[in-house]
Amino acid sequence: MRHPIRLRSLPRLSRRSAVGATAAVTLAGLLVAPMATAAPAPTVAAPDIPLANVKAHLSQFQSIASANGGSRAHGRPGYKASIDYAKAKLDAAGYTTSVKQFTYNGATGYNLIADWPGGDANQVLMAGGHLDSVTSGPGINDNGSGSAAVLETALAVSREQLKPTKHLRFAWWGAEELGLVGSKNYVNSLPATERSKITGYLNFDMIGSPNPGYFVYDDDPTIEKTFKDFFAGLNVPTEIETEGDGRSDHASFKNVGIPVGGLFTGASRTKTSAQAQKWGGTAGQAFDRCYHSSCDTTANINDTALDRNSDAVAHAIWTLGAGSTPPPGDVYENTADVAIPDNAAAVSSPVSVTGRTGNAPAALQVGVDIRHTWRGDLVVDLIAPDGTAYRLKNSSANDSADNVIATYTVNASAESANGTWNLRVQDVAAQDTGYINSWKLTF
Ligand code: TRP
Ligand code: ZN
Ligand code: CA
Repeated sequence: MRHPIRLRSLPRLSRRSAVGATAAVTLAGLLVAPMATAAPAPTVAAPDIPLANVKAHLSQFQSIASANGGSRAHGRPGYKASIDYAKAKLDAAGYTTSVKQFTYNGATGYNLIADWPGGDANQVLMAGGHLDSVTSGPGINDNGSGSAAVLETALAVSREQLKPTKHLRFAWWGAEELGLVGSKNYVNSLPATERSKITGYLNFDMIGSPNPGYFVYDDDPTIEKTFKDFFAGLNVPTEIETEGDGRSDHASFKNVGIPVGGLFTGASRTKTSAQAQKWGGTAGQAFDRCYHSSCDTTANINDTALDRNSDAVAHAIWTLGAGSTPPPGDVYENTADVAIPDNAAAVSSPVSVTGRTGNAPAALQVGVDIRHTWRGDLVVDLIAPDGTAYRLKNSSANDSADNVIATYTVNASAESANGTWNLRVQDVAAQDTGYINSWKLTF
């Protein structure tokens, strides 16, 4: 296969034919190459969250509102009664609870914080939602729904006696409807060292809308993917949440640099016909016609949406709380062969990295196994998930040895670990050819 004598001045293919010939090869190579995935150590699957339990909490919130002038708003007795209801359930389940007071508009407000004992105190996963309603109604979808799903997930953690890697903290915020007041108060009163321990905050505000959409916040990629994967498993399409980023309590966390994510089934915006086609429901009608109204009662809930979203809350807590910062030395490999066309466009071989947190290491090991009859022809790059290229090897006219079998060390600390990495290989001189045999990333 090796050509002992080689003329470097052989005529090259014209640019047009080179591109035309290789586009198909490249595409075919990508299509046949399976995505190699090395998942971190398996985690315990989340339990199904019983819809009946979530709805029982909603009935309690409804009764509380009805007994207290029709709302659970900041400064009204229905708010404090809602806090007391959730706190009693959590205390009985073994949580360490605390009610944090603040003052707003001349009235006392309350945040309820519930810590599940155990887990790494330096890695805190938080989930929450606002417990207050507007004054005009009982606030069952907005936000009894998120409050109840988070509460029932916390109770499921207790039922299962979950031993997560991370420390779990659940929160119910006051005075969200007056400008995210409770969550801002919480974040502002946390010392910087405590803030820096929060690895993520998951927000659930309006997750049972009567004419629902399935919206995922477009924020931290790991959190976003955790939710998208869950809905993909149910075959439920999702869209990115766009009905007002920053309009709920996650914004208080995002503003101080804490990774956030969350779910939403829609408020006053109108469902399009395309959305009605994929999700069912009524096109041309608001996701929640009772948004901020007196009719936001237990009748204002879509059970299927509430059920799916409640299970998604648990899935995220189990998945992200498992901590799953995999131990060093995890290998992600693609062993599918990818042909490298002669003196033509670059080809790529993907490796999908999931389940990690944070950035890639400063000494990321890139193991390359390329079979080729004249390796001087080859330019090799590692492409990070965001498209940044790291040059592993340049071409060189006189390196006539065959094969590139080497491990390169790349400072990838500016790249998020999760995502699709590619090994990109281009043959830039005519005559000799080869293929990517395999390649791997070692974290
Ligand atoms: N509680 C929010 C509000 O009253 C509801 C809301 C509107 C929302 N748009 C949102 C929640 C987008 C999450 C994401 O404003
Ligand atoms: Zn609201
Ligand atoms: Ca060549």
